[in-house]
Amino acid sequence: MVRRYADRPVDPEALDRLLRNATRGPSAGFSQGSEFLALSEADDVALFWTATGADPASHNEWLDGMRTAPVVIVPLADESAYRRRYTEPDKARAEDAEWAVPYWFVDTGMAALLILQTAVDEGLGACFFGIPLEHVEGFRAAFGVPPHLTPIGAVTVGHRLDDPGSPGSPARRERRADAVHRGRYST
Ligand SMILES: Cc1cc2nc3c(=O)[nH]c(=O)nc-3n(C[C@H](O)[C@H](O)[C@H](O)COP(=O)(O)O)c2cc1C
Repeated sequence: MVRRYADRPVDPEALDRLLRNATRGPSAGFSQGSEFLALSEADDVALFWTATGADPASHNEWLDGMRTAPVVIVPLADESAYRRRYTEPDKARAEDAEWAVPYWFVDTGMAALLILQTAVDEGLGACFFGIPLEHVEGFRAAFGVPPHLTPIGAVTVGHRLDDPGSPGSPARRERRADAVHRGRYST
């Protein structure tokens, strides 16, 4: 995760590839219930930050770094697309069925990872981060995003600097070594 970017635009073809790959991720039942809001105009990126609660006059290391990104992509999950798809004859699930796992968030998360990986492939840097709950409505209103779409977070994209910006949680936490269980669950 890169949290500070060089003062250089992202090549429009690279952005197209990030978005094309995002739309080629796997989706349950091929529901394709993920959409993407791509912001690459400086005014739009600035509006993203104010709409999600960043006071233009306020400064902290994270925000000052993240606001240098020339591109922000917001992956949007459409729960209703899955509920509709799974009522079709080959799935035959009730529209209000309880889901063991909300596939709309699984799939949109996978799409976000494809954006991050394509950024690396393009020699760019990126960071996935959350939109605070209290700013989701403000974000929707600012960009005309309809209520059936839930932003699962956002991805900044830009050219890497040698200094990747403020360190993330791994600077404060150990990577766990006990997450893989072979054969049986073991503690
Ligand atoms: C769902 C999710 C939410 C995250 N939210 C934030 C965030 O709000 N701010 C941030 O700087 N990084 C955020 N991250 C990035 C994580 O901090 C980062 O992936 C993790 O610490 C591991 O670091 P690495 O990806 O650089 O290995 C988020 C990552 C995920 C998957």
